[in-house]
Amino acid sequence: MMNFFKLQGPAARVAPRPDPRDIGGPRQPMLIARNLRKHFPITGGLLGRAVASVKAVDDVSFTVQKGETLGVVGESGCGKSTLARLLMHLVPPDSGEMIFDGQEVGARYGLRLRDLRRNMQMVFQDSASSLNPRMPIEESVAYGPRVHGMGRAEARAHAISLLEQVGLPARLFAGRYPHELSGGQKQRVNIARALALDPRMLILDEAVSALDKSVEAQVLNLLRRLKSEFNLTYIFISHDLHVVQYISDRVMVMYLGEVVEIGPVERIYANASHPYTQALLASQLHADPRNRVTDPPITGDPPNPVNPPTGCRFHTRCPFAEAMCSSTAPRLHPLAGEEGHIVACHMADPSSGHARAGRAGLDRLGMARPLAAKAASEPPCKEGLRA
Ligand SMILES: Nc1ncnc2c1ncn2[C@@H]1O[C@H](COP(=O)(O)OP(=O)(O)O)[C@@H](O)[C@H]1O
Ligand code: SF4
Ligand SMILES: [Mg+2]
Repeated sequence: MMNFFKLQGPAARVAPRPDPRDIGGPRQPMLIARNLRKHFPITGGLLGRAVASVKAVDDVSFTVQKGETLGVVGESGCGKSTLARLLMHLVPPDSGEMIFDGQEVGARYGLRLRDLRRNMQMVFQDSASSLNPRMPIEESVAYGPRVHGMGRAEARAHAISLLEQVGLPARLFAGRYPHELSGGQKQRVNIARALALDPRMLILDEAVSALDKSVEAQVLNLLRRLKSEFNLTYIFISHDLHVVQYISDRVMVMYLGEVVEIGPVERIYANASHPYTQALLASQLHADPRNRVTDPPITGDPPNPVNPPTGCRFHTRCPFAEAMCSSTAPRLHPLAGEEGHIVACHMADPSSGHARAGRAGLDRLGMARPLAAKAASEPPCKEGLRA
């Protein structure tokens, strides 16, 4: 009998199919984000002047290839959701630029915001508040296409077809209201809504985090199927490292508004090189008692993003911090012999002057390396996150 509570095996990486909407060909990145920055002002005093700012996203650059899933991880408050909202232009960036399939977003001769939102859709964690409680779900799904000019009958047929594709047979579900659905069903409706304008890219911000483990597995499998059926590219944001490992091709690790490491998923999980990534991996919970974490490899809360530490923002928690770490911010540096694996740590740069320069990824947080390697080679937990 088929086990609905298990995820399928690791995704086979397939090249994106030819797409009539494709502008620059399969090798042109779907999305390039360059130096994105968002500081939220904190106002005070009688005049409500800005007295400080929350450095939510600071100089973040990355690329997403067509057809891939980029996982984004990091502790709560590190700027993941702000980054997602910046990419969708739900909040305007203070600076930086975005290029979608070769077209600069918002530029005079580039991609208009309206067209960006057609091409790029978002699914949030809170499945209930994303839906209008007074609208049957069929109408919710049809709403976007209707606003974009589709006729009533066509939009309805489209919504019914999408509901079927996300596993909600229209004859049972089309007329239901959100309060008549479970959390997993509501999230399926949100996914159908996100697909309704035929986007090329989805940003999934903690989209499965509120679901029970068994439902989470079903929705993850659905996302994987839809990715192939709709020729999609994903940015998958989650604090859950097991889930990110399961669904991602590459992983980007954020700390206090900055990117500290990016690499192919297997390199990150078996050979994490930034001390923060190693600590995150070592903190993962394991059902196997032999893998229990007894001494937390990372302690204390992240520093305040209003006044982040100087130099390397991780230096206040890093066991390898040296004097230079508090004065000089490390740049993202490619690791020798590891294609596509880049790390913002002085230890990754052989010429940095750090005592361990050039030794990034070697024999670091005593327990982190063996635990991370184990996490990469074993099923993550007993509920069967991997089949
Ligand atoms: N609209 C806002 N105004 C002020 N601060 C904000 C706003 N949105 C987010 N922040 C702050 O920005 C930081 C990053 O938040 P967020 O992007 O939600 O992090 P994450 O999704 O990684 O948990 C946090 O310190 C948060 O309090
Ligand atoms: S730059 Fe220094 S403080 Fe930052 S992660 Fe590397 S060793 Fe640690
Ligand atoms: Mg968030």
